[in-house]
Amino acid sequence: MTIKAVIFDLDGVIVTTDNYHYEAWKQLADEENIYFDREINERLRGVSRMESLNIILEKSTKNYSEDEKLEMATRKNNYYKELIKNLTPCDILPGVNELLASLKSSNIKTAIGSSSKNSPNILKYIGLDNAFDTTVDGNDIKNSKPDPEVFLKAAEKLNVSPSQCLVVEDAEAGVEAALRGGMKVLAVGFASKCCDNATLCSEDLTKVAIKDLLNI
Ligand code: BG6
Ligand code: MG
Repeated sequence: MTIKAVIFDLDGVIVTTDNYHYEAWKQLADEENIYFDREINERLRGVSRMESLNIILEKSTKNYSEDEKLEMATRKNNYYKELIKNLTPCDILPGVNELLASLKSSNIKTAIGSSSKNSPNILKYIGLDNAFDTTVDGNDIKNSKPDPEVFLKAAEKLNVSPSQCLVVEDAEAGVEAALRGGMKVLAVGFASKCCDNATLCSEDLTKVAIKDLLNI
């Protein structure tokens, strides 16, 4: 078998938080009188909080200081933290629990590789805080996707070489990060529609057979 570890992105792969991110950014944008819609929200997928804010500010004519930007990012995150308290195990995306169980029974290591600093809380709310061999998230990295740092750190913690890792991603930035890190990548959800460079593509995790994942 080629693959010895599977590294999962969190938002959009394990659980869908898109709408909560949208609602929290929308509230901030409305307060600041900045135009923001769902199309712009798609550009924030996989991108760090501060980089997301900079994308939103492209629609603003005002010049914000670094302190003002920090305050806005914190304000958005406070709205978001309240919204994600609604997450429960019912929000785990289709096929995730089944795939995790098959990987475990095949002795394949698993990790979370997420840009989100809210990762620990999200995993707790959905009851998967002990489901992975290791987790690396936005709190552990300096460079966010498409930089491969988050995935390389996860591979190192698992003691598996990058070429033996498969990343599961829903963001273009994440697919690029995995490839730049020398890993294979399964594009799901949003990325499955636009990432021709991914090793494998699937609309969701119900449609993937474990033998196809491990022998690539
Ligand atoms: C990623 C999301 O997982 O985490 C992005 O796809 C988000 O949309 C990023 O901006 C950072 O999240 P957080 O929770 O640290 O603000
Ligand atoms: Mg994602």
